[in-house]
Amino acid sequence: MEKFILISCVLFLWSTSSCVSGNSPHKRAVVKFDNALDKWVPPMDLQLRFPYYLTGYDDENRPIWVVEFGKWNLRKVVEQGGESLHNLSRYIDQAFWRLQRSIDLRSTPEFPVTDGIGIFDLENYDVFQIASVPTLQFIIQKAREIEPTTPHMDKGFFLNVNFVAQTFLNFLKPVLGAFLAKSEIYGTNRARWIPDMLKKLPRDQLPEWYGGYKDFRPVAVYG
Ligand SMILES: *[C@@H]1O[C@H](CO)[C@@H](O)[C@H](O)[C@H]1NC(C)=O
Repeated sequence: MEKFILISCVLFLWSTSSCVSGNSPHKRAVVKFDNALDKWVPPMDLQLRFPYYLTGYDDENRPIWVVEFGKWNLRKVVEQGGESLHNLSRYIDQAFWRLQRSIDLRSTPEFPVTDGIGIFDLENYDVFQIASVPTLQFIIQKAREIEPTTPHMDKGFFLNVNFVAQTFLNFLKPVLGAFLAKSEIYGTNRARWIPDMLKKLPRDQLPEWYGGYKDFRPVAVYG
């Protein structure tokens, strides 16, 4: 039964997401987010349930962000709808707005920083999330909105990509194809991806569970 639902979703979304990407011209400009996001304080429950943080910077001063997306139970909020969903949508905008803004934090005229790095941890990503058409629609819509920020990301690291998460990334391909193509997609075996990631990112800027040191402290935690 679950498989059947999944396949129906795949077919349904394949058609919608293709239209979505067909309608969105590729913009390379900085995304104009609502200025009020700067001061907006999201409800505490969103901060607790949808964690993301700035771990630090790489050798070229590019900010490194972690989004623990595997923990994000978007479906629950999508099903609540109304103001809860509106807040979640804003919460995601704020995350990408912060990411975009953080690119300038260590930029100097001599050594300009033009992009950032995103680590998307899909650990325990659950079929419950993608077996819901409204949830997937919401995600694809948000992905379409934030897509113009992705040229400002050097690359993404997708960690702990299990079968469900891979299916999910396939849904996003029509919208985030260019970003996914320049990203690293790693499976669930940490022993395999940690050494590879450490070749690309400085160890002292990463949490211990991503191969960093025990005493690691992120620069800023949201959620
Ligand atoms: C939406 O967010 C605002 C600002 O944090 C908060 O006051 C309001 O209670 C939230 N609404 C819901 C339904 O969580």
